[in-house]
Amino acid sequence: MHAERLPLTSTPETVPRRKPEALVQHFEEESLLMDPASAYTCALNPTGAAVWELIDGQRSVAEIAAVIVRSTTAVPMRANEDVRLFIDEMARLGFVRFGRDGNEVDDDGVDSGPPFTAALKRLIEAVTEEAQRYEHEVADAQRCDLFVPSHPARLFGAMQAARRHTSRFVELGSGLGGNTLLAALLGYEPATGVEHDAELHRRSQRLAAELGLEERVTFHLGNYLPADYEPPADVDATTLARYRLDGERVFEQADVPAHDCWLATPFPQTQRVVEHLFHENARPGSLLLTYQGLGPAKIRIAAGDTLTYYGPESDAQLARMVENESG
Ligand SMILES: C[S@@+](CC[C@H](N)C(=O)[O-])C[C@H]1O[C@@H](n2cnc3c(N)ncnc32)[C@H](O)[C@@H]1O
Repeated sequence: MHAERLPLTSTPETVPRRKPEALVQHFEEESLLMDPASAYTCALNPTGAAVWELIDGQRSVAEIAAVIVRSTTAVPMRANEDVRLFIDEMARLGFVRFGRDGNEVDDDGVDSGPPFTAALKRLIEAVTEEAQRYEHEVADAQRCDLFVPSHPARLFGAMQAARRHTSRFVELGSGLGGNTLLAALLGYEPATGVEHDAELHRRSQRLAAELGLEERVTFHLGNYLPADYEPPADVDATTLARYRLDGERVFEQADVPAHDCWLATPFPQTQRVVEHLFHENARPGSLLLTYQGLGPAKIRIAAGDTLTYYGPESDAQLARMVENESG
């Protein structure tokens, strides 16, 4: 049996449809599309996001381009072709199909997927809201100065890829807990977070309960550095100031080395400290995921190779990396 071959290139008359399971997360500077099934993620600029919103299974490519032309300063001829090429790229990545079908996409285009998609959507919404609540409810002076939230949507692809090779997840500096909660949803067991700041830790536990994931995650309050931690000689005092060195050390209590997938979202200066910690303590075959707020996530294997994760195109490379290490 052959899967039905769907065309991947459109004409102005083609009517594109969104993949119903696709999730979209809007950020200030861009939007991120996620496919829960394939783990593809795709960053959209504001025009791309506007095109995505206009794809409703009813409008043709030409009709979508016409709306874009009316709402921007785009040159019509150019816009027609740009919109068409953009939609073709979405089709290549599996986010868009061609052919009129009114039933497949509901109002917001995301609700009709299987339970995992619904759970992922709920988690993403809850984490987004919690980050906003933290901003509003916690006065500036009380806010953790080292806390800059990342969003689980950013880590989704790399964490799902790493899940094929690892199963025990720990997040160093788990903040509001969104990534650790995502790990639980992806089937990592245990899914552990360690956070130094008491308010963030309290909120991560509350979020876990709100999502019904409290049995599947453990959030430790404390400092994830080992009791006898010595920073590498090339790390200076300014860098260490971006790091918590005080507080109760819970590295042993949380049994960080027992986890084979480590995640940290450090400041650029402190990436070296996290890598050093991983290098000194992780078991063979463990993966370190790092993300620094922009661009793709990085995946490092204990032996030292690093991969920039660009979505499923990187999966074979990751598999080779893991195989080389175990061989
Ligand atoms: C840049 S924030 C990222 C938070 C979270 N990983 C996320 O992506 O939303 C870094 C977090 O690490 C925590 N942190 C920094 N040094 C730590 C340490 N030594 N032990 C435990 N937590 C630490 C900070 O309190 C902060 O919440």
